[in-house]
Amino acid sequence: MKNSWIQASSGVYVPQARVGVREMHEEHISREGFFGPASMIYHEKPAKAPTRVEGSLAVRMAKVEHFDQLDEESEAGLPTLMLHNPELSISLSRRVAEMPFLLRNIDADTLIYVQSGSGTLATEFGPLEYSGGDYLYIPKGISYRQMPSSLTVALVVESMAPIGIAEHAMLGRHTPFDSGVLGIPEVQAYDWPEQDEWELKLKQGEELTSWFFDDLPFDVIGWKGDLFPFRLSEKDIRHISAERMHIAPSSWCIFESASFFCVAFRPMSGVSDVEAEELPSRHRNLDMEEVLMIRSLFAGVEAPELWHMPQAVTHGPLGEHRDMFEMFRKQIEAEGGKLERTFDAVSIDPYKRVTPTPAYLAMVAKY
Ligand SMILES: [Fe+2]
Repeated sequence: MKNSWIQASSGVYVPQARVGVREMHEEHISREGFFGPASMIYHEKPAKAPTRVEGSLAVRMAKVEHFDQLDEESEAGLPTLMLHNPELSISLSRRVAEMPFLLRNIDADTLIYVQSGSGTLATEFGPLEYSGGDYLYIPKGISYRQMPSSLTVALVVESMAPIGIAEHAMLGRHTPFDSGVLGIPEVQAYDWPEQDEWELKLKQGEELTSWFFDDLPFDVIGWKGDLFPFRLSEKDIRHISAERMHIAPSSWCIFESASFFCVAFRPMSGVSDVEAEELPSRHRNLDMEEVLMIRSLFAGVEAPELWHMPQAVTHGPLGEHRDMFEMFRKQIEAEGGKLERTFDAVSIDPYKRVTPTPAYLAMVAKY
């Protein structure tokens, strides 16, 4: 879809979107994330959440604490599917025990975001140590075994389209992170206790096939190439920010495929220009779903949650959430301090509608 150069306007509006709008109530409506045609509309009244929703299109919130299914105790021994479409699946994982099998996704690239916990992702290329805040990328067709050293809670994204690192070409090769910070597996002989047989689970969508071997099939003594698993720690991401304007969250895109992009929201200073609107804005993302794995909210409150914003549904702070945010902002301004954004989350934004599973809806019902 091409952006149109035909721009039009009517009524009351500001010449620079997101700046000087406080007495009005701006809503951002855009196609293709924040890249396509867009309009700002200006409301007389603050945004309110609907008093009641009948039907399936709703902003959904769920607390991760309401998810108690351990992977190792599930039927397949794997993470629990939360939201999906034919190209992409998003699951939650809680694992405390080592996988008693090796796993190879033969359909999809896998991106794991570790929200909490630590351990080792033993891949056939070598081990990757992980802890909270790490992204683990495993290409399609590469085998691995997760071996937690503490209870590990993670978001697991499987994408049929290859996942790559998002391009921010105008920023150069070293922003928002230098590839030198990636954790690369060093080949290693695994000295795990011998077993009668080793199971390699081949994952094809939700279907599993098991191959059994007498000897551990991880016997790699070396590797080379540009297809390998790696780790990216979120602390190594140096975010793009602007002093005078809230920039669109797509600026914080870290990974992408043809079916989604992944945005890392990290704590940072807010804009210093008091005329500039702060994050988050009221918006309708017309062509993208948003699935957010949240660690902390605006006042730094630890609140592990999993939210789903269906495409084209107005969100951002509405009703009481908006009031809370405004109170927080006024407090910061009264104290003469700078606004610190403490919002800490990972957003998976699929281009096509995702369907929530009964497991996710059960968590939403307990919110
Ligand atoms: Fe959004």
